[in-house]
Amino acid sequence: MAIIRGTRKVLANKVFSQAELHEKYGGVVPEIASRNHLKKISPLLQEAVNQAQIELDQLNLIAPTYGPGLVGPLLVGLSLGKSLAYGLGIPFLGVNHLEGHIFAHHLSQKIGPPFLALLISGGHTHLTHVKDWGDYQTLGQTRDDAAGEAFDKVGFMTGLGYPAGLKIDHKSKGGDPRRIDFPRPLLNEGLDFSFAGLKTAVTNELKKSTDLKLEDLLASFQEAVVETLVTKAIRAARKIDCEVITAIGGVAANSRLRQKLGEEARATGMEALFPPLQFCTDNAAMIGSCGAYRHQYFGETSSLDLGPVPSLHLG
Ligand code: KG4
Ligand code: ZN
Repeated sequence: MAIIRGTRKVLANKVFSQAELHEKYGGVVPEIASRNHLKKISPLLQEAVNQAQIELDQLNLIAPTYGPGLVGPLLVGLSLGKSLAYGLGIPFLGVNHLEGHIFAHHLSQKIGPPFLALLISGGHTHLTHVKDWGDYQTLGQTRDDAAGEAFDKVGFMTGLGYPAGLKIDHKSKGGDPRRIDFPRPLLNEGLDFSFAGLKTAVTNELKKSTDLKLEDLLASFQEAVVETLVTKAIRAARKIDCEVITAIGGVAANSRLRQKLGEEARATGMEALFPPLQFCTDNAAMIGSCGAYRHQYFGETSSLDLGPVPSLHLG
């Protein structure tokens, strides 16, 4: 739940993480997610209003996410958004979650489009050419698991719980990334990704070696994911002749990715940008910024019969 002034001044940005509630299941349980959205959404609105020091009737626009994502949580956010907009007599605008991630860049960076967005989260792995705000072309995406999903599955297999990205990031610092030469799926081919095979390779390695240090396994796995992401991002930026790459989504918090993408971009005369972590992982400030921008500059509003679109695309 966030409150934005204009399109980029964040007055409040409140996150209620459900990670602990889903941890023992090794992934998000849709029903638990929906119920906790319902439980938390009104208190979170109150907290955001208090933090921003505004009254509800000062709001000019309500912009909830309408997809992609789980239908239950989307319905909860949309329903509250519509009720607020109707009750306050103000416009309402549904926002695409993926476009919201791209607006993490708008919230925190001085350089505007064009740029290449490397969107890497628990559900998505996208290379998107941001030609202008509102004008996107997807250049490549995952054919199976998302990058964050690969981190989470490997974390679950090795007993690290869910989500595991940050834990793997930390543990890898004490490991040898060259200890196991894991496959780099589709490394030399195009701009799509595939991480499902890598997960199987980790399972096989776990079965076969008894004296393997967990840190070495994790560092080697992380290196394979990071090398694939960085190689493809640089390739995509070259293809569209773009000098700026922005990494967004939860996996963009990964320290090795930040280091390697920064180095490789510099070596090829490009610049890699990383919005602050609070705007990289899922948050409402990026959604609010996107909604406010589309309303202010494109004059957009949505009808109150807008429904959730779980498999919404971008570009
Ligand atoms: O963007 P996000 O918060 O939610 C989605 O839209 O999915 O991304 C969550 C994902 C999880 O898979 C989590 O394991 C991963 O981001 N993640 C990381 C790191 N921090 C979070 N992956 C690698 N290294 C990290 N430091
Ligand atoms: Zn997300």
